[in-house]
Amino acid sequence: MSKFQSTFPENFLWGGAIAANQAEGAYLEGGKGLTTVDLLPTGKERFSFMLGKVDSLKLKDGVYYPSHEAIDFYHRYKEDIALFAEMGFKCLRLSIAWSRVFPNGDDEIPNEAGLQFYDDVFDELLKYNIEPVVTTCHFDVPIHLVEKYGSWKNRAMIGFYENYTRTIFDRYKNKVKYWMTFNEINMLLHAPFIGAGIIVNEEENKEQVLYQAAHHQLVASALAVKACHEISPNAQIGCMLAAGATYPYTCHPNDIWEAIDKDRESFFFIDVQSRGEYPGYAKRYFKENNLQIAMEKGDEEILKNNTVDYIGFSYYASRCASTDPEVLSQLTEGNIFASIKNPYLKASEWGWQIDPKGLRITCNHLHERYQKPLFIVENGLGAIDVLEEDDTISDDYRIDYLKAHFIEMSEAIKDGVEIIGYTSWGPIDLVSAGTGEMKKRYGYIYVDKDNEGKGTLRRIKKKSFYWYQQVIQANGENL
Ligand code: BG6
Repeated sequence: MSKFQSTFPENFLWGGAIAANQAEGAYLEGGKGLTTVDLLPTGKERFSFMLGKVDSLKLKDGVYYPSHEAIDFYHRYKEDIALFAEMGFKCLRLSIAWSRVFPNGDDEIPNEAGLQFYDDVFDELLKYNIEPVVTTCHFDVPIHLVEKYGSWKNRAMIGFYENYTRTIFDRYKNKVKYWMTFNEINMLLHAPFIGAGIIVNEEENKEQVLYQAAHHQLVASALAVKACHEISPNAQIGCMLAAGATYPYTCHPNDIWEAIDKDRESFFFIDVQSRGEYPGYAKRYFKENNLQIAMEKGDEEILKNNTVDYIGFSYYASRCASTDPEVLSQLTEGNIFASIKNPYLKASEWGWQIDPKGLRITCNHLHERYQKPLFIVENGLGAIDVLEEDDTISDDYRIDYLKAHFIEMSEAIKDGVEIIGYTSWGPIDLVSAGTGEMKKRYGYIYVDKDNEGKGTLRRIKKKSFYWYQQVIQANGENL
């Protein structure tokens, strides 16, 4: 161990993050309704579905749907939480599946079995003093809302979401202190079906549809903030951004501006959620592109008066921006956001560029822009792990990745950025959102299941399990 000294606050929330649709399985159990993610297959077809090219909202025979069983957290949560507790987790970020609580989304009465399930999960966490950090909506819109209303294209969604969030805030007010509204809200612009249940028809003006849907989500998010503050005054509620600083590819002023412009596609959402109003650059964009955002009287006031308490974000990679067509032809993958290859960075097996310093840069950007506490609620390395015959997994590459990011997170804290906590993505292997694969593993805990859904679902501790346990125990000192 090096002599590096870090400075994490005493109550820093170390933990991990999972999402209902990627972990729970039991996709129709306990009265749960079908959701958007339950329709996503694996492979290439998944990607076009995510983008909103959806030919049918019915399940097809003979197709493998990874969310249906996922890693069976629904039945195994006690075992999994015990393992998180063994690692010393201070918090677990997880999401509530909207359709467990309201199977159709527009039901009059909530589904008690669904509510009880989360009561049981939260009780289990609290038994070990693990703070639940809860996302109200992580890529799962009840399918009935898509079929009947066109999902977030329709203003009626605001009411359904408000009813849903009021129900869960009230039910869990004594158990949950950290909430988040929409996971990676900016995903709506890039992958509208997974992001917000939106199917884009060819005859529609895509941008018009997406920005109108974004307005509905932003108002809904602000109403959730209002409800949370009324019902649970001691709780904090944040937004959630798929973040990652955009670097200019060169120092040409055009590239500098391009980078600013690209970042604004994402900041747009948080500017509204955190500052409470549409930024000038968005208004200009709407005007010049002839986008008419239908707003009702009172919307602007709702946005202004109900801003978030903290900025939650995921960070996997930085991006590059350029105006040079030749440079633009060299793309790499990364969390839906394909980006220009940065010659100074290495990439993961899935092409996501690894940039620990980018985390420090992103933290500083967000802090300077919003002046609110940050919560790093996703970060991690998706990699292929090898289970040896003696049941060990030597994932040193994951340890190296995380360590480098922790050092930069610590630097950001020293820069004066207030960070509430850090939850690495997928502390236990789970279904990949982007590809539906199991072999893209993020966990400290290995799950015996393959891409075709075969395996015993047995949980096995990786080398990183013991490493993260030590990090938490030392509160990030001596990394
Ligand atoms: C984020 C999502 O986009 O990235 C998670 O909030 C997702 O749901 C994570 O799993 C990692 O992406 P992937 O495609 O590797 O699962």
